[in-house]
Amino acid sequence: MSTNLRIDGARLVSRLEALSRIGATPEGGCRRLALTDEDKQGRDWLLSQMQALGLDVKVDAIGNIVGILKGQQQGPAVILGSHIDTVGTGGRFDGALGVIAGVEVLAALRDAGLTPKRDMAVIAFTNEEGARFHPDMLGSYVWAGGMSVEAAHAEKDSEGVVLGAELNRIGYHGPEQPGFLKAHAYLELHIEQGPVLEGDGGGLGAVTGIQAICWLELTLRGRPSHAGTTPMAYRKDPGLAAARINIFANELTKTISGQLANSGVIRVEPGNVNVVPERVVMSLDLRNPNDAPLAETEAAVRKFCAELSERDGIEISFRDLARFPATPFAEELIAGMEASAAELGLPIRRMISGAGHDAQMMSRLCPTAMVFIPSIGGLSHNPAEFSTDEDMVKGANVLLSAAWRAANA
Ligand code: GLV
Ligand code: MN
Ligand code: MN
Repeated sequence: MSTNLRIDGARLVSRLEALSRIGATPEGGCRRLALTDEDKQGRDWLLSQMQALGLDVKVDAIGNIVGILKGQQQGPAVILGSHIDTVGTGGRFDGALGVIAGVEVLAALRDAGLTPKRDMAVIAFTNEEGARFHPDMLGSYVWAGGMSVEAAHAEKDSEGVVLGAELNRIGYHGPEQPGFLKAHAYLELHIEQGPVLEGDGGGLGAVTGIQAICWLELTLRGRPSHAGTTPMAYRKDPGLAAARINIFANELTKTISGQLANSGVIRVEPGNVNVVPERVVMSLDLRNPNDAPLAETEAAVRKFCAELSERDGIEISFRDLARFPATPFAEELIAGMEASAAELGLPIRRMISGAGHDAQMMSRLCPTAMVFIPSIGGLSHNPAEFSTDEDMVKGANVLLSAAWRAANA
């Protein structure tokens, strides 16, 4: 690349600060759940930033926001992106950094008066978090053709609010067909969200791929009864069953290599101190770097549930919330991230991503890669999520260099 091309670091930091004021929480984090009023405010702000930059801004039928910088030739674009929705108790960096860095990459080219050979674009994908609507990475999944627009519009949140209606309500049901912009390559900058880079003394991460994800929702039905009068042997208690399943999944992680398990939702009904529960809805988030051990874990959980159901008289039904295979990234782009970091004199190490990202969906369409920056204390999905300004700027400069390379190759 033109070797003195750099991101305007101060502007990147100030844009991130501006976005983090939208949906800011007293704990110092962000709450911009997908398609809420806060998400709409964030979207409006982003749209105005893209327009001020002179990008050709388009919105598709699932609410993905796309800002395009025309290149010298016709053809597929080099796409940068991430998301601006957050989990309910999110931080300021998860997703937001990738979108803003993408905007800053295009701004840096414009400032330098450079026109890439290929078109370039930045996309803010809808509902990456999966905190409000399922599956996670929904906007990029639809963009990549994995789910129809109609099916995505019909998704409901936990209150029964329909996604399509929310998209219309906030004015982001756009006219474009998802996937309308063909992709030559996809690159994403993200915070690591874990402790590996910091533990390694800092430096960047060239992401080699994303681990497999399986999200299940289990509904457990028992028999509500009086907690003072029903002898223990007479109870059909789905709350106890949920606890057993949670512990079983946790124990499995000790015997199946690389396995992770989390039960982040356990809703007990009717929720009275003195009533043996009638119903429990619980989630299981199971992940593994490899598909086969994840399948083994899921099969073991299902078998355990079948036996528990038989023994304790609890009815258990399953629903898939998300299911995505392990996704390796493109070697030439991973190497491109390393080359860009080397060119900038920045240390970088290869690593797998524990979290899901829009890149996982985009890799269905085109060669894809990501670059990570350290998360202080390894914390994410937490208001205390933090990365330094210096690391953000370093990561954005690597993104700029890798994107420029891909756009002119
Ligand atoms: C997305 O944030 C995920 O849960 O990996
Ligand atoms: Mn994210
Ligand atoms: Mn996240």
